[in-house]
Amino acid sequence: MGENKFSCSLLLLFLFLATCVNGEDPYRFFTWNVTYGDIYPLGVKQQGILINGQFPGPQIECVTNDNLIISVFNNLNESFLISWNGLQQRRNSWQDGVYGTNCPIPPGQNFTYILQAKDQIGSYFYFPSLAFHKAAGGFGGIKVSSRPLIPVPFPNPAGDYTILAGDWFKQNYTDLQAILDGGNNLPFADGLLINGRGWNGYTFTVDQGNTYRFRISNVGLTTSINFRIQGHQMQLVEVEGSHTLQNTYSSLDIHLGQSYSVLVTADQPAQDYYIVVSTRFTDPVLTTTAILHYSNSAGTVSGPPPGGPTTETDWSLNQARSIRWNLTASGPRPNPQGSYHYGLINTTRTIRLANSAPVINGKQRYAVNSVSFIPADTPLKIADYYQISGVFNLGSIPDNPTGGGGYLQTSVMAADFRAYVEIVFENSEDTVQSWHIDGYSYFVVGMDGGQWSPASRDNYNLRDTVARCTVQVYPNSWTAIYMALDNVGMWNIRSENWARQYLGQQFYLRVYSPAHSWRDEYPIPTNALLCGRAAGRRTRSL
Ligand SMILES: *[C@@H]1O[C@H](CO)[C@@H](O)[C@H](O)[C@H]1NC(C)=O
Ligand SMILES: *[C@@H]1O[C@H](CO)[C@@H](O)[C@H](O)[C@H]1NC(C)=O
Ligand SMILES: *[C@@H]1O[C@H](CO)[C@@H](O)[C@H](O)[C@H]1NC(C)=O
Ligand SMILES: *[C@@H]1O[C@H](CO)[C@@H](O)[C@H](O)[C@H]1NC(C)=O
Ligand SMILES: *[C@@H]1O[C@H](CO)[C@@H](O)[C@H](O)[C@H]1NC(C)=O
Ligand SMILES: *[C@@H]1O[C@H](CO)[C@@H](O)[C@H](O)[C@H]1NC(C)=O
Repeated sequence: MGENKFSCSLLLLFLFLATCVNGEDPYRFFTWNVTYGDIYPLGVKQQGILINGQFPGPQIECVTNDNLIISVFNNLNESFLISWNGLQQRRNSWQDGVYGTNCPIPPGQNFTYILQAKDQIGSYFYFPSLAFHKAAGGFGGIKVSSRPLIPVPFPNPAGDYTILAGDWFKQNYTDLQAILDGGNNLPFADGLLINGRGWNGYTFTVDQGNTYRFRISNVGLTTSINFRIQGHQMQLVEVEGSHTLQNTYSSLDIHLGQSYSVLVTADQPAQDYYIVVSTRFTDPVLTTTAILHYSNSAGTVSGPPPGGPTTETDWSLNQARSIRWNLTASGPRPNPQGSYHYGLINTTRTIRLANSAPVINGKQRYAVNSVSFIPADTPLKIADYYQISGVFNLGSIPDNPTGGGGYLQTSVMAADFRAYVEIVFENSEDTVQSWHIDGYSYFVVGMDGGQWSPASRDNYNLRDTVARCTVQVYPNSWTAIYMALDNVGMWNIRSENWARQYLGQQFYLRVYSPAHSWRDEYPIPTNALLCGRAAGRRTRSL
């Protein structure tokens, strides 16, 4: 899209940007035209959601603390929002782009997100958050690099590749949504995609002898995946913004919504190799491949693609436990990651969250502590700001499982700014769960089979677990996290299984500071869209 067309509105934007983002940090501008377009990822024509004509969408490449000014033009004939899996929006849940924080961008209109990659590094992705749009594409990679003077704990790789992988359906997103609206679960996926392509659809070229970084995210809808490269080992270096101990793996389990970076050295005979993604904990197992092509390759891929792990959860649990923080490496700041002693801080509150799959009013729903989330008529953050009563109630989801039957509610949990919480995800179902928390990165202190009890704390890793934003919970197991509530706002906690999320397995955590200071939370942006019961209100003036 042309640049000049927008320069006028950008100038206006600048005028108020200075008031709410750090003027010293660089700005990066993005203009995204969101349209429908035909895609054929599994050989079947589908109406995809494209960004600037691309599927997947363009990658966001930025550096810690960069300001990201992203103008989204919705040229669909339905409402649209983009959200950012892993970008924390510090003090700024106004930009989170989920139903509970933003009014949808109406068809034919635009909205400019004003974000900052504040105090972050790492690999993440963005995705369309409304309806079942994620099943039509509209997602893309986010790469936040370290500032130039901050040491990165491995040599600069010869190349940096993004892999967005996940399950895919031949039925289109409106049909999938209709299945869920009808009270049914989704069928099993039809296939897997790597960067929007099916079997051998994508090629990554490497020079023999060089080392490359691969950033792999599971952008799928319903299944965990396993990732591996024929004949090559992978050195894990980063997990959602944490630099890890650089363990070597021959394959990695990546659960829904998670992101990993690995280093791969092209140290094999010069030919082509399979990059393989397969579904995990499913029967049947779906597999797809891309190509690792040596630039001096003497031949195409040969032999069968390597198989993935076949054991069920123990292998995966042990691998998860082996993923540790490198205490001496820098994260986004120069001081070592280990200088933050997350395990020595006393928790001030324990929240236990149990997932369930109740049938409510004859329809399949999914719930957290028996509450199945339903949207209200006004985004919760905006209703909160204008003190519009009757949209939601604090305390509308309990802190502990009730064991009762499921019910529908616009569920919001109250929490205090600067609390240090322990959250235990308890999964008594026989499928793997994956939980994401917007606005935060948290420490995965423990996971194990069986029922969590206070005695489980004896085995927590209080020294060197990773901080991340999406964590798995194995079948009939629990996962515990520690999280410092240092980010005021209205934050979505959700299942990353998109059918479960859509059918209510999510809620909002309202992290509140009575100070009402700009130091704790930015005021409503002047360009905020207002809708529902907030329609016609004014945002603050310049
Ligand atoms: C967005 O793309 C559509 C379809 O290609 C085109 O009609 C429209 O002019 C584009 N909008 C802008 C602002 O470029
Ligand atoms: C989805 O597919 C159905 C047919 O199964 C079709 O009627 C509908 O128009 C399609 N919707 C989109 C958005 O492509
Ligand atoms: C939106 O456009 C699609 C075709 O691109 C069409 O199938 C659908 O009915 C339209 N929806 C609305 C609400 O106009
Ligand atoms: C973007 O939307 C604003 C209203 O929110 C409107 O004033 C402006 O003209 C739009 N820009 C373009 C290029 O369509
Ligand atoms: C941890 O990071 C340091 C850099 O501070 C690096 O030298 C070291 O190799 C890393 N250790 C492991 C085990 O990855
Ligand atoms: C944590 O609590 C214990 C006992 O309740 C207390 O002795 C200790 O000083 C506290 N630690 C911190 C860092 O506040």
